This record gives sequence, C-alpha cells and structure tokens, in this order.
Amino acid sequence: MDLDSLKQAFNKYMEEGEEPQAFFAPGRVNLIGEHTDYNGGHVFPCALSVGTYALARKRKDRKICLYSMNFPDLGVIEVDKENLHYVKEREWSNYPLGVTAIFQKEGYEIKAGFDVTFYGNIPNGAGLSSSASIEVLTAVMLRELFDIKINMIDLIKLTQRAENEFVGVNCGIMDQFSIAAGKRDHAILLNCETLEYAQTPLKMDGLILVIANTNKRRGLAGSKYNERRSECEAALRILKQELEIDTLGDLTNKTFEKYAHLIKDSNLKKRARHAVYENNRTLMAVEKLNEGDIEGFGQLMNDSHRSLRDDYEVTGKELDALVEAAWKEGAIGSRMTGAGFGGCTISIISEDKVERFTERVGKEYTRKTGLEAEFYVVEVGDGAKPLGERKG
Ligand code: GLA
Repeated sequence: MDLDSLKQAFNKYMEEGEEPQAFFAPGRVNLIGEHTDYNGGHVFPCALSVGTYALARKRKDRKICLYSMNFPDLGVIEVDKENLHYVKEREWSNYPLGVTAIFQKEGYEIKAGFDVTFYGNIPNGAGLSSSASIEVLTAVMLRELFDIKINMIDLIKLTQRAENEFVGVNCGIMDQFSIAAGKRDHAILLNCETLEYAQTPLKMDGLILVIANTNKRRGLAGSKYNERRSECEAALRILKQELEIDTLGDLTNKTFEKYAHLIKDSNLKKRARHAVYENNRTLMAVEKLNEGDIEGFGQLMNDSHRSLRDDYEVTGKELDALVEAAWKEGAIGSRMTGAGFGGCTISIISEDKVERFTERVGKEYTRKTGLEAEFYVVEVGDGAKPLGERKG
C-alpha cells in the first residue's frame, strides 16, 4: 500500500506538528499447530504481507489521539494517557490503548501523549489476527517514539498481556509472536512453553499457499475459545495426579494413550487428545517440510483438520465444507486455521491449478452453505517494523 492516503488522513484528523513516523505490522496465518499454544505445545505460523500501517508522532501534552481509516464512523478517539481502561464503545482502539496501559503498568515510561492514524488491509474478522497486528504495531511504535529499551520477547509478552488483561481475551502467544518475529518466505516453529523458536524456510517449488475465507461471522468464538482452554486445563489437572508434567505439550501420543483412561469425561479426553496429538504432529510436519516432503506435510495438515473437527470440535459446517471441497480438488493439504468457528482455511496447491481450484471450491462451498468464499494467495512477509529511511 502507498502511505499517501494514510498521510492525508493524518493531516486531516491530527493537529499540525512534526512529521509522523511510519510503522507496519503483518497479519498471520498458522500452517499447523492449532490450539497448542496455550497447552505448552508448538505452533508453525507465518507472517503475511498484508497487515496494519500506522503514522505516529509524539505530542507535547498527555493526550492520546487515535484514528483508523477502517473505522471512520468512530472518528478520532481522544484519551488521557494517565487514565486508560477498557471501554467497549471504543471498539478497535482498546487494542492500542491496552498495549499503552500495560507498558506503563510495567514501568516503561511513555513520556507524553501521541497521535496515530491507522490503516489495515487484513480481511476483517477472518481469523488472520488483525487485533494482534495492531497490538504489536503499537508496541513497536511506543518503543521507537519513546526510546524504550525492551527486547523482542518481552515486547511480545506485553502485547499478549494487553489482550488477556485489558481486552479480556484469554489468547495464547502464537499471534503476537509470529507478527513480531516473522520473516519473509519463512514460517516460525515456536515452542510456546520455552519461547525458543526457529525461522524455517518455506521451500515449495511450484506450490502456493491459498487462504480461503468462509465469510462466516464468528459469533461465539470468544466464549467457546475460553471454554476449550478450561477443558484442557481440567484434563491436565487429572493427568497430573499420575504424571510429572507441566503441560499437555510434555506428552508423547503413547504416554497419553497409556493414561487417557484417567480422564472419565469423554469431551475432556477428546480435547486433551487433540492438544497432545496436534503438538506432536506439528513437530513431525516441520521435519517433513525440512526433508522436502511436502506431500507428507500436507497429509499432516489434513489430519490436523480432522482432529480439530472430531476431537476439538471447533470447525463447523462452513470450515468443513471448504476443506472437503479443497481435498476433492486436489489440495496437497488443507485445514482450518486460527481459532476456528468460522474464519479461514489454508491449503497447499499447485501454482498452475489455482484458478480452477478457487472457481470449483468456491462453487461447491456456495452450493453447500449459501455463502460466498473469498480466496487470497499467501505472500509470506516480514515481522513488525518501522518503515521509511529514518529507521530503516
Ligand atoms: C487464536 C489465539 C491463538 C491460538 C489460536 C488457536 O488465534 O489468539 O493464541 O490459540 O487461536 O491455535
């Protein structure tokens, strides 16, 4: 995107003053490792080339002035930096305000107020982490504007806390991590317990990644997400009576099967089985990718979807319809991505089949659900960064 229209919006909605600085943070898509992050497991996401842009500048007083080109009806949101709390009606601006509040709470000095204008080109509500994108963008912006000394891992943890504590969504660390640490043409294998990570080249000659958006509104997503978390925590408590483990991510499939009988509730057992198998599947999938075995990687993506459908029960008829159509149309691998309950799927397909694929999968999806899917070819981009000459 060119920054001209963002600059115009900045000039229109903010008071006159110094030139603002430009920042970018991507969206993300997860290739495999779903609902494993808050279970101490591994994830394998990558940063997208689409994301959120911001122009920002320090003020001389304590006011924070925020405007988003995506939500013009809300106008400029003005808040005192010493008085930050969650207000539902402030909608999107709770993300940047939450990050600012957590920075201050942790003793990072935000010496003055600031003006920011945002523009995002991540499809809205599609499960591609537009909210984590604004959070990480805000954190990078605060770091640069106020010369804050903070390393990347601490910055990521603070943005996750902003979402947990300020916004009240109990998310894991995957989204914020991949958005901050993403690298062009690489995916990130992250151990969510230790936060050790490896940027892994995505070598896929002649193949591409395609995101398909169900365009289904994710109504109950928040509460169902928190419910899955507590189900996994309950299963872990039961297993801990017999096993010396800290998280479900500590278990091999074999050990899990040996002790699964301890979990009497069949739903809890299924949730835990998904968390354990998905974590081990993610490690196996990355091995396959590194060996150049894309078919093997794709099979594991398909297994991941089945497990999310049958054991974790977070797919729903729209995601299932898209994935089944993709399997039928020769996808090398296809699965739901993100939290589920709507949102997007991710598929690996041959570059030369993309047109036929989107046409046929789109038709089949509409026939089954009455909804229109949207397709985007994935470009894997870099993590969050300042833009422009001044900060490279
Ligand atoms: C959402 C959360 C992540 C992760 C995924 C499921 O995107 O924000 O932390 O739990 O769902 O893998």
